[in-house]
Amino acid sequence: MAKILVIYYSKTGNTKKMAKAVGEGVKERGGEPDVVHVEDFGDIEKLLDYDGYIMGSPTYFGILAAPLKDFIDRSIKVYKKLDGRVGGAFASSGIQGGGNETTIHSITQALKVHGLIMPGFSGAGHYGPAAVGEPDEKIISESRQLGKSVTALAQKIS
Ligand SMILES: Cc1cc2nc3c(=O)[nH]c(=O)nc-3n(C[C@H](O)[C@H](O)[C@H](O)COP(=O)(O)O)c2cc1C
Repeated sequence: MAKILVIYYSKTGNTKKMAKAVGEGVKERGGEPDVVHVEDFGDIEKLLDYDGYIMGSPTYFGILAAPLKDFIDRSIKVYKKLDGRVGGAFASSGIQGGGNETTIHSITQALKVHGLIMPGFSGAGHYGPAAVGEPDEKIISESRQLGKSVTALAQKIS
């Protein structure tokens, strides 16, 4: 069973709601989700236990929030050990055009440096779910879809 880490930073709860929906999608597709706030993750070497990584962040000045960046920087410990696994990203912003896509890209850039493979999306939210404020039903549904797509890819690869 594909084990997927859904790791996020959230201060006021918007990204957290998306993370929960991503985890539901992983489960619906037959994967095993671990939905964790970045501050609760613990030993970075636990990253080796997963088949896939989905990261979510609020948009802070157009990019990912510092606690998630710090987590990614600490993941240098497992650099070159995650190649060929799968990934994905999601983001939340305060305003439309506030930088959700650049936030998603700032995460996926780092995931690519780790050698991860990521699905794209032909429907709404091409790069991943992007909420403005509290996620509505459409964004919750896209978040579930992200969980499903990453899990399906992990299952195909293994
Ligand atoms: C330090 C800081 C920087 C922010 N920068 C942006 C920004 O550049 N663009 C934007 O649209 N919203 C920005 N916001 C708003 C948050 O991205 C938004 O409220 C988000 O939904 C919060 O997610 P959370 O509820 O998961 O903490 C910023 C908020 C903070 C605290």
